Amino acid sequence: MGSSTVSSSKLLFRQLFEKDSSTYTYLLADISHPDRSALLIDPVDKTVDRDLSLIKDLGLKLIYAMNTHVHADHVTGTGLIKSKVPSAKSVISKASGSKADLLIVPGDKIQIGNLFLEVRATPGHTLGCVTYVTGGGPDQPHPKMAFTGDALLIRGCGRTDFQGGSSEQLYKSVHSQIFTLPKETLIYPAHDYRGFTVSTVGEEMQYNPRLTKDEETYKSIMQNLNLPYPKMIDIAVPANMVCGLQDLTSKSS
Ligand SMILES: [Fe+2]
Repeated sequence: MGSSTVSSSKLLFRQLFEKDSSTYTYLLADISHPDRSALLIDPVDKTVDRDLSLIKDLGLKLIYAMNTHVHADHVTGTGLIKSKVPSAKSVISKASGSKADLLIVPGDKIQIGNLFLEVRATPGHTLGCVTYVTGGGPDQPHPKMAFTGDALLIRGCGRTDFQGGSSEQLYKSVHSQIFTLPKETLIYPAHDYRGFTVSTVGEEMQYNPRLTKDEETYKSIMQNLNLPYPKMIDIAVPANMVCGLQDLTSKSS
């Protein structure tokens, strides 16, 4: 059995890619519900038109434009989406300190039709990182799907040297909030730089070159990555703290 397919009669799922920042944007919708409600996870400003035209083609109604965290490598599409689809609500964690229509906390459920996502706090890459996990129950997608942002990447993880990052915290987040999910849970990260699209909890528990190590080894790996200063951070972070509405904010202030 292939483990990278999800069985659910309700769920319409698309994984979309933005090549400059190697970002994945995810579209989820409940197509069994007459409203055909949909949400986007981690939309990018450059690909908003593509995403909205797909949503239109598929006859979906966009309810939520969500972020897993304050991105440092691209400007979120949520602000632009709101200007084009005024009824859509932007979503980010309260812990991120950002502005959005809906500030979510761990344990919150985000509902579209009869499908829902649960919020898990997975700080460490940034202070406000969350993982969105599809709900439990017979009518929800099986296996579960976890949208991990930059907390857990396929065979990697997000850096921990900016934005309130902490390798100690990220190690604990992944082990307590992601590796405790059923092993067949599908991992959908915010990025991939090598062409991978999906992994599973079991696969990362076995093969992730960083998070399979003990905590001390992990911390020293993270301290010695010698990564360059993120090239978009000075533009992206201030913009993303206001949901990508930086132009409107600076004009009105
Ligand atoms: Fe990030």
